Amino acid sequence: MLLEQLQNFLEQYTAENKLTPSYVEQRLQQIHAAGTVEYTSEEIDYAMKLAWRNSNKCIGRLFWKSLHTFDRRDLRTPQAIYEALIEHIDYATNGGKIRSTISVFDPSVRIWNHQLVRYAGYETASGIIGDPASVEFTKKCLELGWRGEQGRFDVLPLVIQVADDAPVVFDIPAAHILEVPLRHPTLEWFSELGLKWYAVPMISDMKVDVGGIEFISVPFNGWYMGTEIGARNLADENRYNMLPTIAEKMGLDTSKNASLWKDYALVELNRAVLYSYKEDGVSIVDHHTAVEQFLLFEKQEQQAGRDVTGNWVWLVPPLSPATADIYHRTLDNTKKKPFYCYQKPPFHL
Ligand code: ARG
Repeated sequence: MLLEQLQNFLEQYTAENKLTPSYVEQRLQQIHAAGTVEYTSEEIDYAMKLAWRNSNKCIGRLFWKSLHTFDRRDLRTPQAIYEALIEHIDYATNGGKIRSTISVFDPSVRIWNHQLVRYAGYETASGIIGDPASVEFTKKCLELGWRGEQGRFDVLPLVIQVADDAPVVFDIPAAHILEVPLRHPTLEWFSELGLKWYAVPMISDMKVDVGGIEFISVPFNGWYMGTEIGARNLADENRYNMLPTIAEKMGLDTSKNASLWKDYALVELNRAVLYSYKEDGVSIVDHHTAVEQFLLFEKQEQQAGRDVTGNWVWLVPPLSPATADIYHRTLDNTKKKPFYCYQKPPFHL
């Protein structure tokens, strides 16, 4: 069974990279002789690209070939892993010209964070301060000795565990974290809301199975689609819930649903996000362009003789959904291997 998965991956790798077919046999023999599966850096890099191409929930897959892989499988100490994560952050951030990047660690390494950079959420007597999605992880960090400043946008520390050792907590120096203060092209009061978001979304809690071997620490990033911030992170009622405040400031009638105050507020918040990132030279894509890029990806895949799979619920943007071509179609959500998927959190809550 394992051998079959291994062989499948090596065959795909060999075929797509136009290697001589004997490569598969040769690698299987090497692996058999070694008694353990040790992929080459080239195989790992291609596997990570494939897993991106197979991410049914990702609208940004047109760029799958451009993924930059840091092969970090040799690192075994929290300090070295921390330094590699800082390098990932710096390389990916690139002063705002974001580069799609992944770091691959040995499976004995576990990163506790959901994203490398994320804002804390504190439960207080007067409600949650910060990002409600981070409340549980923030508690863990505090338990581990981290001191939060009880602000709305406190960047959480990196929590790194090696094998069964206790996890180690590292603050990320501010100089490595690019953030964008939000302002609006015409609504001058917008900047007074004190909103901001970080530049690079770096998911660090997903795993990927490559030919039967699980890689559980593979932090990766692309760049944001504006709606992730403007229609979800800052808008959802169970996140920063900013729509009532923005609508109020806009002078809209929030007592009646039919005034469409939520819709007006959403559009202005999303305009602010796109405007601010653009003005600061930080890569971001609006949802209309992202859909166009996805259609191009579909075309490209078709030309390569492959079916495109996708998860409709995730691919249709949360803003003006029916303006997206994909809204009007059904998509095939078959999961092709390898793919990134969720895993059980390493800590008990
Ligand atoms: N939706 C997540 C967030 O808002 C990020 C997921 C990955 N997004 C991306 N554009 N690569 O933080």
